[in-house]
Amino acid sequence: MAIKFDFTNAMNSAIGEAHGINPRAIEALESRAQAIHQTIQTQRKSGTLGFYHLPYDDCLVRAVRALAATVRKTCENFVVLGIGGSALGAQCLCRALTHPYHNLLPRKMRKNTPRIFFLDNVDPEQVSGLLNTMNLKQTVFNVVTKSGTTVETMATFFLFYNRLKRAVGAAQIDKHIIITTDPHKGELHRIARAHRLRTLPIPDNVGGRFSVFSAVGLLPAAVVGINIRALLQGAQAMDKRCRSTRLWRNPAYLNAAIHYLADTKKGKTMSVMMPYSYALTVVADWYCQLWAESLGKRLSLDGRRVEVGQTPIKAIGATDQHSQIQLYNEGPNNKIITFLQVDKFRKQARIPHLSGLSPSLHHLMGVELGELLNSELLATEFALTKNKRPNVKFIFDAITPENLGGLLFLLEVQTAFAGGLYNVNANDQPGVEEGKRATNALLGQDSPQALQKKAELDAFQKRKRYQCL
Ligand code: PA5
Repeated sequence: MAIKFDFTNAMNSAIGEAHGINPRAIEALESRAQAIHQTIQTQRKSGTLGFYHLPYDDCLVRAVRALAATVRKTCENFVVLGIGGSALGAQCLCRALTHPYHNLLPRKMRKNTPRIFFLDNVDPEQVSGLLNTMNLKQTVFNVVTKSGTTVETMATFFLFYNRLKRAVGAAQIDKHIIITTDPHKGELHRIARAHRLRTLPIPDNVGGRFSVFSAVGLLPAAVVGINIRALLQGAQAMDKRCRSTRLWRNPAYLNAAIHYLADTKKGKTMSVMMPYSYALTVVADWYCQLWAESLGKRLSLDGRRVEVGQTPIKAIGATDQHSQIQLYNEGPNNKIITFLQVDKFRKQARIPHLSGLSPSLHHLMGVELGELLNSELLATEFALTKNKRPNVKFIFDAITPENLGGLLFLLEVQTAFAGGLYNVNANDQPGVEEGKRATNALLGQDSPQALQKKAELDAFQKRKRYQCL
């Protein structure tokens, strides 16, 4: 594995004292870092922080690989039904480690693996549209929900279950569904048992956004031929790299400290992730969820109202140089940017030498697109730094399962540690739960709490004022 973490441009030496981090501020956090590290280690040992154990679960790897091999034999379409943490990890792996147009390739060029689709919403046009693209007899649905009650996932599951029943018959339906859920409880667990559906576990101590190395991420990845052992080896190596209690020696803790200080001392209330690589675009989505849902909290661990958390933003290099970068360079200096750079792309494409062009374009002749992209990254980094905008960078020597496993694991550790710095519970999501309860109430869930919520929602709706356009 070879990833480098470059934090030069976040420091005061590069962008000045008003916006850059003073190394002394990092050092001042050392004793807190020790305490947070101890808490994390205790939670790791007691099993509270389950994500630490996932890269070492060899039993799971064997089960996933066996199941994936069966699926690959007969299945032409693999559809993941899940939302949030139950979809983004797998999407991130598949985007990074398969052909960029995997689904459009003939089966042979897909190495005899199925096409893969992620349905993480309930838009009726999108759902019906997906049905038009596939023969259900050749399709396997992977229903992923830890709670087993998430309305979006359960709604699409019920819908496809019915369609499947008509298409393949009740006796065959179990060959077309794989459930990934809590192994002991929940409605989906109950349904899976009752209908003898194949299941894979999401451990109770693993939160959705920390589940990429569980069956949630591993099954879809293995189905499309990703080397999940190498992925997990990368995560294991990063686990070893991120064991030091010292901030300067632990890249995950150091980046958490840089972001925390940038937010709380320098007013950088937004954290932008900007990959300069199509394959890494979903890493930015995954990071946004991880950072937002883990750290955006009203209450501190001791129950005080704190309302903390940086707003994460996804930007794509070079595309967003023609959109958001204007704001980042000249608008409010309230962001810290994380670039993702790839040194050696898996494919190369060179701009041809053409004659008759104006001299203003001659410098493009014969240039590799990878070189162009990385020059754009360097130019953006340079401009931002000149404008005193803090930025850090992860540099991949190449996109490999090991490197990706390493980066995702680092970002998980970084988030857990940042939870300690902000003094919030990085593992819960009460703000998401409120929305889930309100949706159920609106749809007529029958419980005293739901009825009360429905009354609140009715009053809320009555206060609305409209203009007809
Ligand atoms: O990170 C989280 O915990 C959430 O984003 C969940 O993954 C999301 O709400 C889906 O939950 P579930 O897996 O229970 O369907």
